[in-house]
Amino acid sequence: MKILLCGDVVGRAGRAAVTEHVPELRRILGLDFVVVNGENAAAGFGITDKICAELYAAGVDAITTGNHVWDRREIIAYIPSNPRLLRPANFPRGTPGRGSHVYRLADGRRVFLANLMARLFMDALDDPFAAVEALLAERRLGEVDAIIVDFHGEATSEKMAMGQLLDGRVSLVVGTHSHVPTADAQILPRGTAYQTDAGMCGDYDSVIGMQKAAAVARFVTKMPGERLQVAEGPATLCGVVVETDDATGLARRIAPVRMGGRLIPSLPTEFATNS
Ligand SMILES: [Fe+2]
Ligand SMILES: [Fe+2]
Repeated sequence: MKILLCGDVVGRAGRAAVTEHVPELRRILGLDFVVVNGENAAAGFGITDKICAELYAAGVDAITTGNHVWDRREIIAYIPSNPRLLRPANFPRGTPGRGSHVYRLADGRRVFLANLMARLFMDALDDPFAAVEALLAERRLGEVDAIIVDFHGEATSEKMAMGQLLDGRVSLVVGTHSHVPTADAQILPRGTAYQTDAGMCGDYDSVIGMQKAAAVARFVTKMPGERLQVAEGPATLCGVVVETDDATGLARRIAPVRMGGRLIPSLPTEFATNS
């Protein structure tokens, strides 16, 4: 199975990168399942039902989120009836929506997607490591064909620890939230594909997707300054593509994907053929 997971889609520019590139990536790479993190899709803050529909129409199968999930309050009413939109599984009991779901592909194969949020330099939440163990006690490779974990967090150490904890038990662990891609894509020793952060789909002539002048001024002056506005120059789509072995659900190969905008492109065309 070939899976693409793209990091945080930031604003209109990020959405344009997804709608422009995901259809061709699906075709070129022969993708079976596409996930994007959509927590910043609405002008940098939150997501709406209309934006979900726009992303699904571009070929996105499921959307994960993180700390910005509720920034647009109308999503609270929408999320319970939409299993293709996840919020972190370790939010408090009673939170609307769901933190994981099993998706069935047209050919019958099943993908278990889980969204968790880290705690270092983040909001205090239930333990994501205990939460993921509870989820994996219910769903194992063998019962489902692939397991994907989006671990939304600030600290590289916490995200790497999650990857190592889950090595051999899931297909892919990818970090999101930092809005900067890391260069450590690898298959861990027991067969789980891993990258510390997928990077954002957004305008990289910015400070993590926000217009640079105001964002820089906040650091320089230590004053709150004007409200941050999303950067709207040409965006780079950033993500990882993984091919799993259908017999085991573990990863055969992983590669970073970068298209458009300012970042050095990476299009792993070797994924077009089956390994
Ligand atoms: Fe984000
Ligand atoms: Fe975030």
